[in-house]
Amino acid sequence: MTEWTSICRVDDIPVLGSRRVARAQGLDVAVFRNTSNEVFALLDRCPHKGGPLSQGIVFGTSVACPMHNWTIGLCDGQAAAPDEGCTPKFQVRVEDGTVLLNTHELAHHALSETRPIAGPQRRAPASPAA
Ligand code: FES
Repeated sequence: MTEWTSICRVDDIPVLGSRRVARAQGLDVAVFRNTSNEVFALLDRCPHKGGPLSQGIVFGTSVACPMHNWTIGLCDGQAAAPDEGCTPKFQVRVEDGTVLLNTHELAHHALSETRPIAGPQRRAPASPAA
């Protein structure tokens, strides 16, 4: 049986905005709300260069990434053509006005996704001369 974790009330999520859910491991989950009070959950990481989708603008069933304005589908995490890529989505449901996320997914889904590091890439130390 699927277990669900209570996150917040739907009203706690701004209309056309989002709320971030921190996890013990892995990147945050962004929970979005549109004008129809539909709620969606995606990893808070744009498939382009890792921008925070939680800071994007929701329209219809999409969010515009704040970094370079890619459009990401809230239902499936897919970037709209001609862009390509996908961010992991999370199961979400609303029960009596409370937003719930799948407990197993919160703990285990998309843990390998990381945020890009700004600035020069750190290089491995040079090997000692033989
Ligand atoms: S990081 Fe999202 S559009 Fe570039």
